[in-house]
Order: sequence, then structure tokens, then C-alpha cells
Amino acid sequence: MSKRAVWLIWVTGVLVLSGYYSFRLFASEDQEAFVIGPATHGHHQIELACATCHTSAFGGGEVLQQACVNCHGKELQAADDSHPKAKFTDPRNADRLEHLDARQCVACHREHQLEQTGAMGVTLPQDFCFLCHQDIAEDRPSHQGMAFDTCASAGCHNYHDNQALYEDFLTKHGQEPDIKALARIVQRSDIALKHPHHQPGKALRAADANAGALEDTVLADWLSSAHAQAGVNCSGCHTATPAASAKASPPSPQDWVDKPSIAICQGCHGEETATFYQGKHGMRLAPNLSRTLTPMTPSLGRLTFNPDAAHRELTCASCHDPHSVDVREAAVDSCLGCHADTHSLAYQNSPHFQLWQAELAGTAAPGSGVSCATCHMPRESHTTSGMQRVLVNHNQNANLRPNEKMIRGVCQNCHGLTFAIDALADPHLLQTNFTGRPAHHIDSVDMAIRRLRESNATETASPEHIQP
Ligand code: HEC
Ligand code: HEC
Ligand code: HEC
Ligand code: HEC
Ligand code: HEC
Ligand code: HEC
Ligand code: HEC
Ligand code: HEC
Ligand code: HEC
Ligand code: HEC
Repeated sequence: MSKRAVWLIWVTGVLVLSGYYSFRLFASEDQEAFVIGPATHGHHQIELACATCHTSAFGGGEVLQQACVNCHGKELQAADDSHPKAKFTDPRNADRLEHLDARQCVACHREHQLEQTGAMGVTLPQDFCFLCHQDIAEDRPSHQGMAFDTCASAGCHNYHDNQALYEDFLTKHGQEPDIKALARIVQRSDIALKHPHHQPGKALRAADANAGALEDTVLADWLSSAHAQAGVNCSGCHTATPAASAKASPPSPQDWVDKPSIAICQGCHGEETATFYQGKHGMRLAPNLSRTLTPMTPSLGRLTFNPDAAHRELTCASCHDPHSVDVREAAVDSCLGCHADTHSLAYQNSPHFQLWQAELAGTAAPGSGVSCATCHMPRESHTTSGMQRVLVNHNQNANLRPNEKMIRGVCQNCHGLTFAIDALADPHLLQTNFTGRPAHHIDSVDMAIRRLRESNATETASPEHIQP
């Protein structure tokens, strides 16, 4: 064989082999063999869907970066990120990049390196703020003597989201009482009537299923539901496509679908479904992944679950009985059907649970109870097609970490800011699900108020501020 032929065979061989491996790596079902190290807490569910992050077999860092931004860009923007990329493309800050290229997510969030990964997927030592903020003690005498691994301790600063920790926010709300006089969350009543798919003409008309499919309990549950109130009949769900569910006429027996899919719910509840896909309950079903991954189950999870629930799949129906759609049942009982870690189990001994029971019993005002969902799936105001509605955020990770995210949307409905910061910074209270008072006091509010007083004092003392 000529030298040239050997060369050709070798090159072709390498190309075929590497093509084969790239193919297996990025396109095949059997990717487990290639996992180079376990994925982080946030991403372990999508670990085997390599192509969600490595969107192309070719290309370097910018490909990964774009993948991070595609999934997380909006949320960081909404949180008013304190260190956006733009801060570092500014030439005045270019020198800061010498030690750490903070324009790249992977500078701080690497993957497949579980042994060096801390909370929230951070792969740097805790004192990394030092790299850019050495001068803080000079600029702010109040920070003298503080160690750099304390900057980001709960209740002081975060790298991205500082919305509940800005100085003016602290001074504005720092004096509120521990428990507010009107401790309530926003109401969901009346909303039913505002839903775009509400069809008053059809209200409570008899179920339109074919008689063969009727079951007594199903019918009774449905009759008591918000769907019956709103005229969403059996045929509203038991059809193959959302488009068919909008048809006024009942489906013929051959159109009847036994187990309607999420797509049917999504047809009328787009916002809830979209947020469900963003969190740990629904992320495996997100439209770009659902063809590769099965629904999440507790057996695939890294938390402690009820063993009986090991193989229950996460869909809308795991929290909502599709016929009664009783939201009170969804808010606590459904969660405890699966979750069995110390924090979740402790809830039923907490003062918040007592408030929730009083609300259910009707002895306390609506909105004064605190369920699992009050904290993890908060009610939020939305304006859709010009209409103000209160919808439930179905991404239970949206306010989970750093947990100061819970302050504005949840705790502050009922508690003062100082109390909420102290409570969330206390790891023991997380374990007991907030039974008892915070053990320590976080200084940040006092520091902000002191600084405001001092600067007010100097302002009044300085002559140019004295009004003629
Ligand atoms: C959640 C996003 C994500 C998923 C899913 C993911 N990776 Fe990665 N992967 C990364 C990141 C980020 C890096 C860069 C880590 C670093 O710089 O230390 C990386 C690095 C790598 C590397 C090292 C190459 C290099 O450029 O350093 C290999 C090989 C790799 N991943 C393979 C895989 C395979 C195979 C899968 C699927 C089984 C997978 N990855 C799934 C994010 C991901
Ligand atoms: C396919 C979408 C997707 C891609 C791509 C992706 N993520 Fe995520 N990420 C998620 C989801 C879903 C979660 C879990 C829910 C949450 O914590 O918000 C998550 C969680 C996280 C967390 C929080 C972890 C925790 O424990 O609280 C960080 C940090 C993170 N991602 C950073 C990154 C970075 C950096 C990249 C790029 C290398 C990336 N993500 C790529 C979807 C994605
Ligand atoms: C210089 C380090 C650094 C860089 C660069 C960085 N992060 Fe982070 N990230 C952190 C730290 C530290 C936390 C822990 C919470 C905090 O302090 O805000 C975090 C937390 C997160 C979280 C979970 C908490 C939250 O507030 O949502 C997400 C998601 C996230 N980062 C995504 C990204 C993405 C996407 C990029 C790139 C666009 C990125 N990060 C770049 C340091 C960094
Ligand atoms: C790669 C460099 C870099 C690192 C690392 C870094 N910062 Fe910054 N930070 C900056 C720059 C640049 C600014 C804007 C200019 C300034 O205020 O010095 C800034 C501003 C801030 C601000 C004022 C933010 C605002 O919204 O006004 C805070 C608070 C802050 N950083 C805290 C931290 C904390 C806490 C850490 C560590 C978790 C950290 N930084 C790590 C570069 C960095
Ligand atoms: C044809 C449209 C339609 C379909 C399909 C549909 N819904 Fe509804 N749903 C409504 C309307 C209208 C309401 C009443 C207004 C509201 O509460 O938002 C409602 C209310 C609800 C409520 C609130 C109940 C309460 O007591 O306040 C839940 C939970 C719910 N739906 C879940 C689902 C689930 C899960 C599916 C899929 C199995 C689904 N819906 C399918 C239209 C629909
Ligand atoms: C909001 C959507 C919705 C409405 C309205 C609805 N169903 Fe269902 N139904 C479902 C879903 C989703 C399932 C599948 C549950 C599962 O996966 O186990 C189901 C399951 C069933 C089953 C199978 C038995 C069971 O309990 O799992 C029967 C029978 C049934 N429905 C009958 C009806 C009848 C009759 C009506 C009208 C009175 C009705 N459904 C109204 C969504 C709905
Ligand atoms: C069918 C079982 C099931 C039900 C019902 C359920 N969960 Fe989960 N939950 C899970 C699984 C599985 C995970 C993902 C765990 C993982 O990725 O390791 C999860 C994740 C979470 C997380 C994120 C944990 C983390 O560390 O990021 C929170 C918070 C949570 N669930 C709260 C709730 C609440 C509140 C309810 C009730 C409204 C509820 N869950 C209902 C199974 C369930
Ligand atoms: C982890 C449990 C859980 C899952 C999974 C879940 N929900 Fe919910 N959902 C709840 C809870 C709890 C409430 C009520 C919270 C409240 O009253 O504040 C609720 C409320 C609702 C409401 C009424 C409030 C609103 O936003 O209009 C609708 C509609 C709804 N869910 C639809 C869905 C759909 C569609 C899915 C599937 C994509 C789904 N839910 C999956 C727990 C869940
Ligand atoms: C008063 C608000 C509040 C209530 C009520 C509440 N939680 Fe939590 N939950 C939190 C906070 C805060 C965290 C901690 C986030 C962090 O810092 O990691 C948390 C964490 C979790 C986690 C993640 C645990 C882990 O180890 O990663 C799960 C799962 C969870 N809660 C489920 C539930 C369930 C189920 C209920 C009801 C039985 C419930 N929670 C009630 C505030 C609450
Ligand atoms: C709907 C109102 C409401 C919301 C929302 C709420 N709480 Fe509470 N919480 C209360 C009330 C009222 C009490 C007092 C109950 C009692 O003493 O019987 C309480 C008690 C507590 C306690 C125990 C105090 C003690 O003396 O034992 C802690 C800690 C706590 N809340 C923290 C939080 C945190 C942190 C959040 C946000 C994640 C939060 N709460 C959200 C109303 C609320």
C-alpha cells in the first residue's frame, strides 16, 4: 500500500470514529457512558441531555455561555443583576478581569466537578469577592475588619440579586414590626370569572361525556369544581388536542381521550405551564427536552421522599386532582405525599400550619394562613390581554435560593423586613420550618439606618443645605 493510501485510511478512520463519538455524545440516547462527572444540584435532572448545554458538538466557550443565557438570562435581568456582563465590558472595569473573567458564567459556575461545587452551583471559594473589592474597608469604614467570606452571608450581599438588600430598601422597611397588623396574602377570589376561557353560557350545564365513561365520584368531584363553575365540561379536557377542547360540541366516543396530556391544560393555563417547566418539578418536560426525557419522579431526585411515592410522575395531576382541582389540597397535602425531608415534615408542627388550619376551618380571614404553596408557589399579579389577574407561580425554584428572594414576594406581606432577614438567615429555623424566633440578628439593616442618620446629620450641619 502506498504511503498516501495509509494516510487516507488513517484520516478517514479518525473522522469516522470521532464522528461516531460526537454522534453518540450529542445525539444518542445512551449518554450515561460519557458523563465525565456528576452534574450540579440545579442541573442533575438534565445531566443526560448533554445537548441542552453543549448545543453544538463544535465551538468553544461562547456556545456554553449562550446556552446559560438562553435559560437564565431573563431571570437574572428581572432580578436586576448587580454584576451583569455589561459592567465588565465597560473599559473602566477591565482591570478587574485580570484575576477572574466575570463575563463568563463558567468562571464561577463550572459543571461536572461536584467535589468543588458549593451552594447554588458556585465553584469558587467563598472569599472570591476579595478579587475585586479589596478596597471596601477604605471606602466604607463600617466594613473594617470584616472577613471576605462574610460578604455574601445570608442577609448582607448577593452577587446577582440584591433586590431585598439594597440600602434604600433596608432603610425604608427597617422599622416595621415583626408581625404586621394585617398579615395576609393577596386573594384569588373573582379571578375565576375573569379567565379568558370562562364561558358563562355553559355554566354548570350537565356533564357532556358519553354515558359509558361516567363515574359517580368523577361527576361529583367535577360538579364541585371551578371548572364546572366556569363551563369547562368533560369534553373541555378529554380530547386529543387543545384546539378540539375549544369546540362547543361534545366529542364523539372515538374522540374521547382517557388521559388528557399536559398540552390540554396548557391550552387554557399557559402561564402556569410555562413556569412549571422552569422549575425542578417540570424542567424535564420543557418543550425542548420532553422528547428526550421522561417526567421527573422522586426516585430520580436527590432529596428525601416518601418511599410510597418513588415512582409517581410529576405532571399537573400530581398536585391537582383533575376533576375536583381543589387548590387547598394542592397547597399542602399533595406536597407531603412526596416530600419527607426534615423541613417539610416539621411544617405540621409550625405556627404557620396552625394559621393555615384556622383559614381552612373558616375561623380566620382568607389569605391569613401559610401553606407550603404560600412560600414556594406565591401568587403574583399579571396583566394578560389588558386584564389584571392573580396567578400562581409554578416554578417553586424561582424564590428558593438565595432565600432572600422570598422576602419581598412572601414574608413581607405579613412580617417586618428585619424579622424576615433574621429568620431566613437562621439554618435551625429552616429545619424546624419556622417554629420559634430567630437566634441571631443580622446587622445589615442597622448599618444602613446608621449610615442614613450619619449622612442626614452631616447634611443638616453643612451650611449649603440650610434653606435661606
Ligand atoms: C447544565 C449544562 C451541562 C450539561 C447538561 C452537560 N454539560 Fe458538559 N460541561 C458543561 C460546562 C459548563 C462545562 C465547562 C466546565 C469547565 O469549564 O470546567 C462542561 C464541560 C464538559 C467537558 C469537558 C470539555 C471541556 O471543554 O472542558 C466534556 C467532555 C463534557 N462537558 C461532556 C458532557 C457530556 C457527555 C454531557 C452529557 C452526558 C454533558 N457534558 C452535559 C455544562 C454541561
Ligand atoms: C435547558 C435550560 C438550562 C441550561 C442550558 C442551563 N440551566 Fe442552569 N438551571 C436550569 C434549571 C431548570 C435549574 C433549576 C431551577 C432553578 O434553580 O432555577 C437551573 C439551576 C441553575 C443554578 C442554580 C443552582 C442551585 O442549586 O440553586 C445555577 C447557578 C445555574 N443553573 C447556572 C447555569 C449556568 C452557568 C449554565 C451554563 C453553563 C446553565 N445554568 C445552563 C436550566 C438550565
Ligand atoms: C464572579 C462569579 C459569578 C459569575 C461570573 C456568575 N455567577 Fe451566577 N452566581 C454566583 C454566586 C456567588 C451565586 C450565589 C448567589 C449570589 O450570591 O447571588 C450565583 C448564583 C446564580 C444563580 C442562582 C441564584 C439566582 O440568583 O438566581 C443562577 C441561576 C446563576 N448564578 C446564573 C449565572 C449565569 C447564567 C451566569 C452567566 C451569565 C452567572 N451566573 C455568572 C457567582 C457568579
Ligand atoms: C470580577 C470582579 C468582581 C467580583 C469578583 C465581585 N464584584 Fe462586586 N462589583 C464589581 C464591579 C466592577 C462593581 C461596580 C463598580 C463598583 O461599585 O466598584 C461591583 C459592585 C458591587 C456592589 C454594588 C452593587 C450595586 O448594585 O450597586 C456590591 C454590593 C458588590 N459588588 C458585591 C460583591 C460581592 C458580595 C461579591 C462576591 C460574592 C462581589 N461583589 C464580587 C466587580 C466584582
Ligand atoms: C377549556 C379550558 C380549560 C382547560 C382545558 C383546563 N382548564 Fe383549568 N380552569 C379553566 C377555567 C376557566 C378556570 C377558572 C378560572 C381560574 O381559576 O383560573 C380553571 C381553573 C383551574 C384551577 C383553579 C381551581 C380553583 O378552585 O380555583 C386549577 C387548579 C386548574 N384549572 C387546573 C387545570 C388542570 C390541571 C387542567 C388539565 C388537566 C386544566 N385546568 C384544564 C379552564 C380550563
Ligand atoms: C380539567 C380537565 C378535566 C375535566 C374537565 C374532566 N377530566 Fe376526566 N380526567 C382528566 C385527566 C387529566 C385524567 C387522567 C388522570 C390520570 O392521569 O390519572 C382524567 C381521568 C378520567 C377518567 C379515568 C378514571 C380516573 O379517575 O382516572 C374518567 C372516567 C374521567 N376522567 C371522566 C371524566 C368525566 C365524566 C368528566 C366530566 C364530568 C371529566 N372526566 C372531566 C381531566 C379532566
Ligand atoms: C409527585 C411528587 C411531588 C409532589 C406532589 C411535589 N413535589 Fe416538590 N419535588 C419533587 C421532586 C422529585 C423534586 C426534584 C428533586 C431533585 O431534583 O432532586 C422536587 C423539588 C422541589 C423543590 C426544589 C428543591 C430544591 O432543592 O431545589 C421544592 C421547593 C419543592 N419540590 C416543593 C414542593 C411543594 C411546595 C409541593 C406542593 C405544592 C411539592 N413540592 C409537590 C416531587 C414532588
Ligand atoms: C407541585 C404542585 C403543583 C403542580 C405540579 C401544579 N400545580 Fe397548579 N397549583 C398548585 C397550588 C398549590 C395552587 C394554589 C396556590 C394558591 O392557592 O395560592 C395551584 C394553582 C393553580 C391554578 C389556579 C391559580 C392560577 O394560577 O390561576 C391553576 C390554573 C393551576 N394551578 C394549573 C396548573 C397546571 C396547568 C399545572 C401543570 C402544568 C399545574 N397547575 C401543576 C400546585 C401545583
Ligand atoms: C414560611 C415559608 C415556608 C414554608 C411554609 C415552607 N417552606 Fe420549604 N423552604 C422555605 C425556605 C426559606 C427554604 C430554604 C431555601 C434555602 O435556603 O435553601 C425551603 C426549602 C424547601 C425545600 C428544599 C430543601 C432542600 O434540602 O433542598 C423543599 C423540598 C421544601 N422547602 C418543601 C416544603 C414543603 C413540602 C412545605 C410544606 C409541607 C414547605 N416547604 C413549607 C420556606 C418555606
Ligand atoms: C400570611 C402571613 C404570613 C406569611 C406570608 C409569613 N408568615 Fe411567618 N408568621 C405569621 C404569623 C401571623 C405568625 C405568628 C403566629 C403565632 O404566633 O401564632 C408567624 C410566625 C412566624 C415565625 C415564628 C415566630 C415565633 O415566635 O415562633 C417565624 C420564624 C416566621 N413566621 C417566619 C416567616 C418567614 C421567614 C416568612 C417568609 C418566608 C413568613 N414567616 C411568612 C404570618 C405569616
